[in-house]
Amino acid sequence: MTRDNLGAALKIRIRPEQEGTVAPVERSLAEAYASRETAWPRLICDGEEVVGFIMGNFEFDSPIDFFQCGIWRLNIAAEHQGKGYGRFAVRELCEEARRRGAKRVTVLWEEHEHGPEEFYLKLGFRPTGQVFEGEIVAELLLD
Ligand SMILES: CC(C)(COP(=O)(O)OP(=O)(O)OC[C@H]1O[C@@H](n2cnc3c(N)ncnc32)[C@H](O)[C@@H]1OP(=O)(O)O)[C@@H](O)C(=O)NCCC(=O)NCCS
Repeated sequence: MTRDNLGAALKIRIRPEQEGTVAPVERSLAEAYASRETAWPRLICDGEEVVGFIMGNFEFDSPIDFFQCGIWRLNIAAEHQGKGYGRFAVRELCEEARRRGAKRVTVLWEEHEHGPEEFYLKLGFRPTGQVFEGEIVAELLLD
């Protein structure tokens, strides 16, 4: 995130039918500001073009195991979905997690008709059996 690309970041919109699956980028950036020690917000760019946003949370001393190292937010712009950017973003977050010594990455999703469950299952995430505030907790073990 830079001053120059902030405007483009705030224009990222998911598909209307996906509303409710993820917070808007402006909220995530406010949370990133409030959690500067642990949040890892990144724009996904293809050349100069902003195509999405991902935010990790790295808080290895959290008492809640699925908050220690995970995907907090992922928003791929509607017009750029289905082109591999989501997969790329998750892979890069996993690389960052590895650099920090993590052995697994977690994610939480709400059951939703147009939710990301199939996407995460395809990427290898598996439910842990935990449910947090109605959301399914899943993990990917890093090799
Ligand atoms: C979920 C989301 C991040 C996927 O991003 P994307 O860039 O469209 O996904 P990719 O193009 O990288 O897809 C990777 C694979 O997952 C599959 N996939 C993606 N979304 C899918 C869906 N809803 N159902 C089934 N498969 C899906 C793709 O077909 C692709 O499979 P392939 O490699 O066999 O072709 C995007 O749809 C999104 O931003 N959704 C709204 C917000 C959201 O749900 N965020 C997650 C909150 S935790």
